[in-house]
Amino acid sequence: MKHLLKLLDLTTEEIIDILNLADQLKYESKHGIPHHHLKGKTLGMIFQKSSTRTRVSFEVGMVQLGGYPLFLSANDLQIGRGEPVQDTARVLSRFLDAIMIRTFAQQEVEDLAKYGAIPVINGLTDSFHPCQVLADLMTIREHKGKLEGLKLCYIGDGNNMANSLTVGGLKTGMEVSIATPKGYEPAGTVLDFAKGFGEKFKLVNDIFEAAKDADVVVTDVWASMGQEGEAEARQKAFAGFQVNKELLKAAKPDVMVQHCLPAHREEEITTEVFEMHIDEILDEAENRLHAQKAVLVKLLNPDV
Ligand code: CP
Ligand code: NVA
Repeated sequence: MKHLLKLLDLTTEEIIDILNLADQLKYESKHGIPHHHLKGKTLGMIFQKSSTRTRVSFEVGMVQLGGYPLFLSANDLQIGRGEPVQDTARVLSRFLDAIMIRTFAQQEVEDLAKYGAIPVINGLTDSFHPCQVLADLMTIREHKGKLEGLKLCYIGDGNNMANSLTVGGLKTGMEVSIATPKGYEPAGTVLDFAKGFGEKFKLVNDIFEAAKDADVVVTDVWASMGQEGEAEARQKAFAGFQVNKELLKAAKPDVMVQHCLPAHREEEITTEVFEMHIDEILDEAENRLHAQKAVLVKLLNPDV
């Protein structure tokens, strides 16, 4: 594994290896066992969009691994003034050991990897959120003891989360069921990938059909970062695409709920359901730290 650009690029074995190492690093953190696998390594973190979890978990993760995180706001970088990504990639490759980038176009992340000489990690684009979904898979496995054979249901916008969950879920042997309003389906590349899984993938408009007998129900905001101008239209389009108590009755009695956060209560999820499942959601947030540390070690010190 050279980069983490999207889960489509990873084999099932690579995903499971990351999850296993993440479990081990979490255990070591909880038991005070140091693991300075990235001593002397520097991670540059470019943010073109806001972040709480991604920024803090990568910064803390690098410190716990004995490395050094460097926060680079796009507002202050020349990239924010139009310096080409090719030049940014080649220059940063002379200073840093790896780059994490959160931006709009997936192509920008792919280009950084293409032109640079160091590993690139996608910290969210309009198309994918692989770090989040690795944390989700880790959390589901932690709570359910397995991934294979579980039914994963996603309700809402066919956005970066829906795309990465579909790929990550199917690659790890889950059944994936997505409910979106018409016109808000996941990306074509993802749907093409999912076609290969036959009955294991379903895309519907009926949230109850998608949630039927689900082991895990996931949702995300109706308007993602960069779509603020469409918020009103989206409120209308997504009315009813809500994770609430009524919907969860269609799922398995021990269903778990995941939300990558930030959440918009009473839009995609009710406050009641959110608070009922808060422990699972906070485990999911915490596992960003452990899953990303595993990714960093796999990329920068693969012999561990
Ligand atoms: N879930 C997630 O990526 O959170 P941030 O936007 O706070 O990083
Ligand atoms: N779909 C959301 C995820 C935020 C972590 C967004 O892109 O804004």
